[in-house]
Amino acid sequence: MKFFIDTADIDEVRKAADIGILDGVTTNPSLVADSGRKLKDVVLDICEIVDGPVSVEVTATDREGMLEEAREFATWADNTVIKVPLTPAGLSACHTLAGEGIDCNVTLCFSANQALLAARAGARFISPFIGRLDDIGQRGMGLIEDIVQMYSNYDYIDTEVLAASIRHPRHVTESALAGADVATIPADVIDQLFQHPKTDQGLQKFLDDWNASEANSG
Ligand code: G3P
Repeated sequence: MKFFIDTADIDEVRKAADIGILDGVTTNPSLVADSGRKLKDVVLDICEIVDGPVSVEVTATDREGMLEEAREFATWADNTVIKVPLTPAGLSACHTLAGEGIDCNVTLCFSANQALLAARAGARFISPFIGRLDDIGQRGMGLIEDIVQMYSNYDYIDTEVLAASIRHPRHVTESALAGADVATIPADVIDQLFQHPKTDQGLQKFLDDWNASEANSG
């Protein structure tokens, strides 16, 4: 499973990239608004650091407006992917952009049928929102499982399942177990993936034993 980071914070992108675990980045209008920076500045900075796909979301809600924004975003860097919402206008824009060789990430997916529609529209990625389904008492991971199984029934579907709205490490594990192609993960959850108390305790014991033996041999 590929790891994307879900952020518009350049320091978070750089930190994950420096560790060598980063395959791409997703942003959304809320994350960019939180950064307090202009969208283009954020995207150009991210694309300086990351070679993999960088998702940039349109804010127009009509097809022509989405196409105009998308074509502009596509000029910013070779690796921008256009995020469009799972609406009729969004899927129509996705279909047109796919025909122009511009990749789309169809976002705000909350049902298996929506994912089927996105695949028909030629989406490179479909983004089911796990955490937001959990928030309303539904099993978000069940949606990932359904989409992975559905897509695997058809050789001609090459849309990648991108698990989004990940809130904790268990979501990452379960996305991989379900066969998601990508998980886009917030920086604080990436940090948690490294952590285990037995790792810290074990490292401390190795160092203590080593230092004691060095002291004795000296
Ligand atoms: O970027 C889309 C998605 O990952 C947002 O997650 O936590 O705001 O539901 P969240």
